[in-house]
Amino acid sequence: MSKLLLRGRVLTFVDEPQSADDASSYRYFEDGAVLVEHDRIAAVGDYAALASAADVQTQIVDHRPNLILPGLIDTHLHFPQTQAIASYGAQLLEWLNTYIFVEEQKFASTAHADFIAGRFMDELLRNGTTTAAAYCSVHRESVDAYFAAAEKRNMLMIGGKVMMDCNAPDALRDTAQSGYDDTKALIAKWHGRGRAHYAISPRFAITSTPGQMEMSRELVREHPECYVQTHLSENRDEVTYATSLYPSAKDYTDIYASYDLLGSKMLLGHCIFLSDREISALAESKSVAVFCPTSNLFLGSGLFDRDRFRKLGARYSVATDVGGGTSFSMLETMAEAYKVLHLQGQRLSPFNSYYMMTLGNARALGLEDRIGSLHAGADADITVLDSRAKPAMDLRMQTAKTLAEELFILQTMGDDRSVAEVYVAGKPMKSNLNKPAATNARVETALELQTA
Ligand code: GUN
Ligand code: ZN
Repeated sequence: MSKLLLRGRVLTFVDEPQSADDASSYRYFEDGAVLVEHDRIAAVGDYAALASAADVQTQIVDHRPNLILPGLIDTHLHFPQTQAIASYGAQLLEWLNTYIFVEEQKFASTAHADFIAGRFMDELLRNGTTTAAAYCSVHRESVDAYFAAAEKRNMLMIGGKVMMDCNAPDALRDTAQSGYDDTKALIAKWHGRGRAHYAISPRFAITSTPGQMEMSRELVREHPECYVQTHLSENRDEVTYATSLYPSAKDYTDIYASYDLLGSKMLLGHCIFLSDREISALAESKSVAVFCPTSNLFLGSGLFDRDRFRKLGARYSVATDVGGGTSFSMLETMAEAYKVLHLQGQRLSPFNSYYMMTLGNARALGLEDRIGSLHAGADADITVLDSRAKPAMDLRMQTAKTLAEELFILQTMGDDRSVAEVYVAGKPMKSNLNKPAATNARVETALELQTA
């Protein structure tokens, strides 16, 4: 069995930080190590202790002085929008019609879907993201492309065919029946195969007729093991339009509630313009509101009010929302999350940020046993971060005195260049993406180390 001992400064969370310096929420090993056996983590702790127990077959990878964290998690983005990031000048509904519904038509071509799926997975990995929940296009083949690309890399990925049977171009519309049939077939083909998880994906209330909402209800009832993902209350015009299409609903949230779509597997993108009643309905149903800061700023949508979700006891996660979002980087996403909350007089501490990208998002997905923290038995999805990846970061780091300060610099100034390596199920991936350039890790065997 292959064994890897990753040496570096290990940081992993055990709970949500309750204050800016809540040391009980995380474990930090200054000269630490993670022992990986095949595709799982076997142990985490001080390097000296783990190295003394290592056998001669253990390969030691020295990532010092970099930080070793769990693989980052992105809870909402769109794989067919990879080439539509940075589309100029429009808010949500105009942006969808002008750019997105044009771009997504390209995914009728399986060759195009295959090409973008591979590049999409590689871009996630380049940014240290090892798990994501993504929307595919309306085309069934786009889901095949997506999960095949994830399977090739052995990534734990969540995804699903978007269902949309109205208010979209002909070429992007399914029907209530074909959306149901395709989704059933895709669940049968992909859900639980390797590391794949299916998400039933009615795009949002505007692009699904009541008939398709009924079919979504059936799908959710028949497949409680699957995720459900949609969009909720992202933009004021969207809220007005959606509620006009469902006049008997109390409000936007009630549209989804009335079709029994809320629940602990439900991921609702954005959730900006919600009343207390709506947030309480999310809390009661244990649904997850997904905060997408770069997207909310880029599309001029609005500011996610995290403290109201906290006060009302609702769950929330964080995500890039590429291509409304402008970056695949969860570090850049948290830099913008900090600013969005700051604008509302709310604080996002560095430890809380790193909690959200890792264990927080894993909990939102109900996957905390497998991913999001470094513990014995977990999947070996691991990210190695370099706080000095750019000259300006290196200069700034010369004045950093604490781990919290370092994390904040890394989040505020970092991007894909700060990801030194990423491991998926125990296999190094970023260095392979970057070939032939070398990584900055030094590799040696335990035998070499003992005889040095
Ligand atoms: N609402 C419905 N579809 C979309 C989408 O693709 N992106 C964003 N940001 N919002 C949506
Ligand atoms: Zn979205």
